[in-house]
Amino acid sequence: TSQGEASRVGLEILRKGGNAIDAAVAVGYALAVTEPCCGNLGGGGFMLIRLANGESVFINFRETAPLAATANMYLDRNGEIIPGRSRNGYLAVAVPGTVRGLDLALQKYGTRSRQQVIAPAIALAGQGFILGTGDIEILRRSGEKLKDPSMAAIFLKNGSKPYEVGDRLVQKNLARTLTQIARGGPAVFYGGEIGAQVVAESRKQGGILSAEDLDTYQALEQEPLQCTYRGYDILTAPPPGGGMTVCLMLNILQGYDLKASGFRSTDTVHRFLAAMLFAYVDRNTYLGDPKFVQIPLERLLSAEYAASIREKIPTKQAVDPRPFYQTIIREGDSTTHYSVIDRTGNAVSVTYTINSSFGAGVIAGDTGFVLNNEMDDFVSKLGSPNQFGLIQGRANRIEPGKRPLSSMSPTIVVKNGQVVLITGSPGGSTIPTTVLQMITHTIDYGMTVAEAVNYPRFHYQGMPDRVLIEPNALAPKVVAALEKRGYTFQPFPKWGSAESIAVDRSRTFTGAADQRRNAGEARGF
Ligand code: DON
Repeated sequence: TSQGEASRVGLEILRKGGNAIDAAVAVGYALAVTEPCCGNLGGGGFMLIRLANGESVFINFRETAPLAATANMYLDRNGEIIPGRSRNGYLAVAVPGTVRGLDLALQKYGTRSRQQVIAPAIALAGQGFILGTGDIEILRRSGEKLKDPSMAAIFLKNGSKPYEVGDRLVQKNLARTLTQIARGGPAVFYGGEIGAQVVAESRKQGGILSAEDLDTYQALEQEPLQCTYRGYDILTAPPPGGGMTVCLMLNILQGYDLKASGFRSTDTVHRFLAAMLFAYVDRNTYLGDPKFVQIPLERLLSAEYAASIREKIPTKQAVDPRPFYQTIIREGDSTTHYSVIDRTGNAVSVTYTINSSFGAGVIAGDTGFVLNNEMDDFVSKLGSPNQFGLIQGRANRIEPGKRPLSSMSPTIVVKNGQVVLITGSPGGSTIPTTVLQMITHTIDYGMTVAEAVNYPRFHYQGMPDRVLIEPNALAPKVVAALEKRGYTFQPFPKWGSAESIAVDRSRTFTGAADQRRNAGEARGF
């Protein structure tokens, strides 16, 4: 996980004989305490489970648009976007899914009681934990949001000063909320006192959340999206998640011998960039909540379709993205990914989020948890980008009860019936390209999991026409050669955090914490 205390919580559950699902649920609650930028009760996400018996399931606890939401709710009278409206405060908040999702996973696939898996989080919140360097970095991601008094009261020392390394962060209100959930289950969150506070505060501050929104929220069990890559089975997030984008890129790249063309060579990177471009075009054109829109999944995922895309990729020249769509990208830093495997081979891959760092920047009453701003993942206005620069189509416009399209792609790679890699990442629109590089680093280039996780990345999603590169991702001569082919590069310090586990042929599990987030730790026994 991206936070050491939470990794230890998962480890203890496994040590005491809990299974990977128990540990994943316990970690989900623990991160809500120890990684408050990202871990959450007030957001949503996806949990991909592959059981040791080979069955798999995808738990969709993505937030939904409130029933009173409308397609134009973030526009002024002239049809222009009201800046920040879909990102800050109660109008940005979608109906949270995390508590229902974690509970569904536990009841159906876990072996421990709610009390047992939530107890460690209650202790971390009530007794507090000592903040390390990485934890201070997490708190710093709150930026302007600490201006809200409900946030300052918790995430500033005595409500006024930034916390420092060595300080103890105690979250009494959150401990009480967690205790209530441990006792009463999701009902207290969605129906009881906690939900009532969320609705009351939302009303008071101009939001549209209702008791009915909370009461009717359901986490869903879906079939994972499946594709294959060079003989490996890829299990990943179906729509509204980001797995489609991952599979589209893999299908296109499968037609090239990436080993022969050389790791990060000019020709190899050119192919990756073209695959990224076309996959994001399709994402932004066709994808939305499958309950609301028809997605031509079968056609998009067919080998013929991938071959037809490859035909459009010139060998030595960048594809001009302008005819397709426009996008830019900015990192949000507010999501978190973790991976779990137990001794029997049950594997769990979880990405969950409150969208922007510290979400909508509001905490209702004394509930102690930050609410999401997932509404910004919808289209506020056709043709206008969201915070990740994604310009998306009608399929992802706002409708009551609909889930916004997500890039989150928790993924499990299987070979001959055995799990070989559990991966995923935060990073908004960069998530699918991070997962792609995790898979190709492992399968095409034989990297260890630590190398694959920490190798500098590149990302491309179309327009404006620039490729993001982390320091040292590409050799200067490769960048120069690609510039000649028509690509533009933009250095970017870092993005994502792909906490992953690899399983080798001797059935040894190796975890790797992503060094981009300093508080992370891989733990095992
Ligand atoms: O679901 C999505 O695609 C976004 N809400 C994820 C945001 C994110 O990853 C920000 N993180 N670092």
